[in-house]
Amino acid sequence: MSALLDEQRGLLEQLDKPRRAERAGRTFWCGHWFGHKVVLVLSKLGKVAAASTATTLIEAFDVKRIVFTGVAGGIGAGIKVGDVVVADQFIQHDMDCSPLFKRFEIPLYARSTLTCDETLSASLLEAARVGLVKASEHFLEEYLVEAPSLHKGLIASGDQFISSAAQADRLFKDLKAAGFDALAVEMEGAAVAQVCADYGVPFAAVRTISDRADDQAHVDFSAFVSQVASPYARAILQQFVKML
Ligand code: ADE
Repeated sequence: MSALLDEQRGLLEQLDKPRRAERAGRTFWCGHWFGHKVVLVLSKLGKVAAASTATTLIEAFDVKRIVFTGVAGGIGAGIKVGDVVVADQFIQHDMDCSPLFKRFEIPLYARSTLTCDETLSASLLEAARVGLVKASEHFLEEYLVEAPSLHKGLIASGDQFISSAAQADRLFKDLKAAGFDALAVEMEGAAVAQVCADYGVPFAAVRTISDRADDQAHVDFSAFVSQVASPYARAILQQFVKML
């Protein structure tokens, strides 16, 4: 699953005998990829869109595991544009039912974070390590000043494109004060993680850092997604699917 077409284009091009199915206002591409049965779908943006896409994947397409690939804004120290983050947990940064529940706690789940599947995430991390080297050799010279690094940690999701340094700083500090060290922000992962937790479906996610969630966040966003994040996603997921 990806949020945007550019994030998925590279994968779609390689799908063997693609079959198109329309459900819930989305196009699902079913086919084979390196010998595995896969379904590719765009979630659209935001938590509700992502949750409904994940539910449809599970209920209508009977998928046994879900991997999300896309871009995120870096908010943790040392997370720079071009880096890759594999999530080990997700939190909803806009969840706030205080004073009924602690800020960030998911009501009636008795927790704030949702944990990704350990085995899938370990494979994704290893695939990212290999894929990153390959992708950065071929595609990235003109886009990145420094060699990309790989991180594993908490990603915060919410229905906001974070586009000011002050907003990013406040979010980072509020999460930190509640005991959560977020590396990056995006708009879908925690919702998919929650649906997957509800159904007991293993979930993992990898995000390329497209911006620092600051006042420059929107600049060159589209070019970055198509020129860098898309080849990254393809290189990483090719490695990943061979490891399944
Ligand atoms: N995805 C990529 N960059 C983002 C940002 N700055 N805020 C939210 N989601 C993002």
